[in-house]
Formats: sequence, C-alpha cells, structure tokens
Amino acid sequence: MSATEFSAGSGPEAGARAVSPVVAVVLVAAGSGQRLGYGMPKARVPLGGEPILMHALRGIVAAGVAQQVCIALPAGDSALRRMCDDFKAELVDGGPLLTVVDGGATRADSVRSALEALEDATQAVLVHDAARALTPESVFHRVVDSLAAGALAVIPVIPVVDTVKTVEATTDEDARIAPEVVVGTAPREKLRAVQTPQGFDLATLLKAHREVAGFDEAQAAAITDDAMLVERLGVPVHAVRGASQSLKITTPLDLIIAEGLLEGPLGARWVEG
Ligand code: CTP
Ligand code: MG
Repeated sequence: MSATEFSAGSGPEAGARAVSPVVAVVLVAAGSGQRLGYGMPKARVPLGGEPILMHALRGIVAAGVAQQVCIALPAGDSALRRMCDDFKAELVDGGPLLTVVDGGATRADSVRSALEALEDATQAVLVHDAARALTPESVFHRVVDSLAAGALAVIPVIPVVDTVKTVEATTDEDARIAPEVVVGTAPREKLRAVQTPQGFDLATLLKAHREVAGFDEAQAAAITDDAMLVERLGVPVHAVRGASQSLKITTPLDLIIAEGLLEGPLGARWVEG
C-alpha cells in the first residue's frame, strides 16, 4: 500500500508534503520513575541542578520545530504544573503554545490524553519522552525533515553494540544449571535501539491508538512505543539517525551518565559526527 492511502482524512497533501507540516510535540512526563528510585516522579528529579522536565522542555523549544508542546504530567502534581506555568511565562513571543494535561496509568494512556488536547490545525506530532531530556536538536530536525519529505511514521534509532539473544526460562530439571537458556541470536547488523522523538502524521497515530481500545491487559502492557502501534496498521515506519545523548534516563547509572554529559568538556548537547 502506498503512503498516501494512509493519509485519508488528514488532507490531500499528507503523505507527500513538500513543506514542513504543522507540528506539535507531545512530551510524556507522567511516569513515576520507579527504576530511578528517587522517591519522586522522574520529571522532578534534579539533573545538573534543574528538574529533568526543564531540560526536556528547553531542548524542544531550542529545536524550534513545534507550534504546540503538550505535556502529560502526573495527575495532581502541582509542583510540575507550576514549573510549566513559569516556563510558559519565560517564553517570549514566538514560542510554542504550551498545554498541560494529566497523564494516565500507562505511557500509552498519557500519549492519548495529550493527543486529545492538540490544536485543530496540527498535521504531525512528535511523541517524546521527558526521560530523554538531553536529546540534541539535530534529532528533532531529522525526524521533522523525514515527515516533511512524506513519511507517515519516523523514528530515531542507533545501532546496537551488544549482541542480543532471545532466551526462555529453563525447565525444572535444568534450573540447577542456570535460570535461562538461549533460543536464538538476532543478527546484530540489522538491530537498532529505538529512541524518541517519534514522528507521525497525526491522523495515522490517532488511528493506531484507537486500536488499543480492543487490547487485553497483557497486550496493553506490552506497548513500549508508539511506532509499534503504527506498524500493526501496516504503515511503513522509517528510521533516521538518533544520538547516544538521547539516552532514556531510567536507572541511577543513566542519571550519572547524564550528569557527566552536562559537566563534560563537550557540553550538554554535543552532537556526534
Ligand atoms: N510515562 C508517562 N505516563 C506513564 C508512564 C510513563 O507519561 N504512565 C512517560 C515517562 O514520564 C517517561 C516516558 O514515558 O518520560 C518513558 O517511561 P519510563 O522511562 O518507563 O519512565 P517511568 O515510567 O517514569 O519510569 P519507571 O518505569 O522506572 O517507573
Ligand atoms: Mg515506565
């Protein structure tokens, strides 16, 4: 199927755009940060003296690609809401429209809440993890350029450095030897680690998320990114170069690495060649 067939409902030009679409960024920041173990929502955890959310917001605004930024926050978190209000006040004329919504129980729920709050004129959306707070501007640009060139879905990726194997739990009799046994080795040259911002034609992403309504609990829990929902529709998902600085701050080690990036001689948003 051609790309244009999927753009029905989003305007005749969708799928073959020559100019940048009207872009909104959905910033999901409603997670609780269990694995970081900081005792507060991850968006509030300090990084280089500022909350992770602020780094993420500044990165999006610096990239200059969005007409609107819609932030999903943990429901009832007044400290993070205040932070967004203060940031809004800081933005001089010409900055994007800033909207805040309550996130949901899962990341996909948070994305859906934010999608509902987008302006009518929005044509394309970038879904971005606040946890990838140090994403360089160049990654946003590569994703938007790909959408402008006609992609309905595009993700930033980096090569995988480790060999990746699939395993299964060992049977009772082998449990003495080891807890798991290898059942396959994926060809590493074809593997990519997937990052955000993930870019989509808005109508395509809305359609993909509507399918989730029919998922059972296990299927819903297995949604780890938006692109996999779009893949289920049979829409081609394109891949552009991501960046190792876009690491998802997940564990205490990641926070140490992010602090190192900020303090290092190359600067916070240093970009690999
Ligand atoms: N997220 C969200 N709403 C949720 C869960 C996650 O908006 N219900 C966001 C997080 O804030 C984060 C991104 O999705 O920016 C990726 O999630 P993850 O790194 O897993 O963050 P947390 O869910 O906060 O961390 P953990 O899984 O360790 O609790
Ligand atoms: Mg999580």
